[in-house]
Amino acid sequence: MPHAFSIYFNSITRSDLNKITVKSPGTVANLVCGFDILGMALNEPYDIMHLKLLNEPIVVIINKDDFNLPTEPEKNVAGVVLLSIIERMNHKTGFEVVIEKHIKPGSGIGSSAASAAGAAVAANHLLGGIFSRDEVVQFAMNGEKLASGVKHADNIAPCILGGVSLIRSIHPLDIVAIPSPDLFVTVVHPQIEVRTSDARQILKKQVLLKDAIRQWGNIAGLVTGFLKNDYELIGRSLEDVIIEPVRSILIPGFDEIKRKCKDAGALGGGISGSGPSVFMLSVSETIAKATETVMKEVYDRLGIENNTYVTTINKKGVEII
Ligand code: HSE
Repeated sequence: MPHAFSIYFNSITRSDLNKITVKSPGTVANLVCGFDILGMALNEPYDIMHLKLLNEPIVVIINKDDFNLPTEPEKNVAGVVLLSIIERMNHKTGFEVVIEKHIKPGSGIGSSAASAAGAAVAANHLLGGIFSRDEVVQFAMNGEKLASGVKHADNIAPCILGGVSLIRSIHPLDIVAIPSPDLFVTVVHPQIEVRTSDARQILKKQVLLKDAIRQWGNIAGLVTGFLKNDYELIGRSLEDVIIEPVRSILIPGFDEIKRKCKDAGALGGGISGSGPSVFMLSVSETIAKATETVMKEVYDRLGIENNTYVTTINKKGVEII
């Protein structure tokens, strides 16, 4: 089924648009218990991307930030997405993309997904919305493959759709939008580097049945909590007995942050994506800010530079501005 934006842009002729600017949000993948299958978009941080159609089948990348990301299209997340679209268009078009990145690469807040999804959505708009929602997601997943070695959509889908997404399946692609509650999100990004590929490499390949039972109980509980706006159920279900015990070792202060944030009133939370960022959900801005204070105190005491966001769930996804 085409997404609303394709229906709208299908009615616009190609000549109406040859440049576009989009805002592409950060995302929290996994949502603790839903490794590779759940994700949520954030109102902050976000990237800005300016895309222009070119007559030649090339990709030109201009980075307007200090992250020093590659400008060779085949080594750049947005670049590989645009190359895959050019290929699908039988080399009849090309793109220039100017990227103002604010989501730090390697933060665990969906930096690569924001580039990939922003490029795919913007390119589709410039082409008159010819691709369906799922095709746009597929194009964007090429960027995730470059960044982490694996095609996963738990950052890409919420980045494109906004809100909370369930990736029920990748083959075939089956994305389910889940109503998202009006909760506050606090994120702390300790300035240490955890590469997604490394954070995936260390995971065990097999799980015990008793852990799997607990995990799928939590996933079902979390989704039901979102559907019913049952905050207690959401809090109880934010538990990960499979991935977190392995990955949290890479994140200094993790257990202390989690415990103290819950003491400060947060519903719960955990590792954002593959880390090192940690996120917490709260019912009020006051609690979300108290949570931020706790996070800062822990990292300041440990002497680890950090930055924090107190934000809300983004319900729009990649947006044209
Ligand atoms: N689900 C992915 C992982 C997200 O946890 O490896 C990476 O951003």
